Amino acid sequence: MERLLPGIVREFSIDFAIANGENAAGGFGLTRKIADDLMALGVNVLTSGNHIWDRREVVGELDSMPNVLRPLNYPPRLPGRGWSVYETGRGVKVCVINLSGRVFMQPLDCPFRAVDAVLPQGQNAVTLVDMHAEATSEKVAMGWYLDGRVAAVVGTHTHVQTSDERVLPGGTAYITDVGMTGPFDSVIGVDKAAIIERFLTGIPARFECAGGDVRLSAVVVSVDGRSRRAVAITRLNRPMEEPGIA
Ligand SMILES: [Fe+2]
Repeated sequence: MERLLPGIVREFSIDFAIANGENAAGGFGLTRKIADDLMALGVNVLTSGNHIWDRREVVGELDSMPNVLRPLNYPPRLPGRGWSVYETGRGVKVCVINLSGRVFMQPLDCPFRAVDAVLPQGQNAVTLVDMHAEATSEKVAMGWYLDGRVAAVVGTHTHVQTSDERVLPGGTAYITDVGMTGPFDSVIGVDKAAIIERFLTGIPARFECAGGDVRLSAVVVSVDGRSRRAVAITRLNRPMEEPGIA
């Protein structure tokens, strides 16, 4: 991330960078130190997902970390927030909403009704949604549901970048999964031998983060300032060693 992100921010004149940080702590959860480090590199907001609860020490701190989001549709009494409005260096308001899917995941509150409840409060902002979900169908449905009402719906959680990025007819940039930043010489970031062994035996194994072929996956969304809708979405998948970028 530190080798690639600052160059990408410069290359695309990025005004606002969002990263899903739920596995930023060595592949499992997030810590305050890692959140701070990522923000020092140019990340403005960290979204998350089901793994935000993995590192207990950060859970109690979420209320004091305004730039870290957890999915909105968890029970409301949990620490942290699921959406917020921020401002870019150029004074543009950006509303970021973090949702979790429910298909093949924990049975949380309805993400569709949850986003409806907060959207009016981000009305004068460029609104970007991280839809953290397992099922492609649920993410695609959310994209269409929000088309014309937000600038982007970006899917996360499945780690494998999809090639279906497009701007929907109402002006919402969409991709089913933005992909992961991490070792591609792996099974979705985890040491592949342990995962294969688990498939072969059915016995739970301790997962270790893999190491090789580190890449950064991302999308760059261009938004029209007046309409607050997307005009383009560009998919990136950059190896760490790429010349001229590191
Ligand atoms: Fe996840």
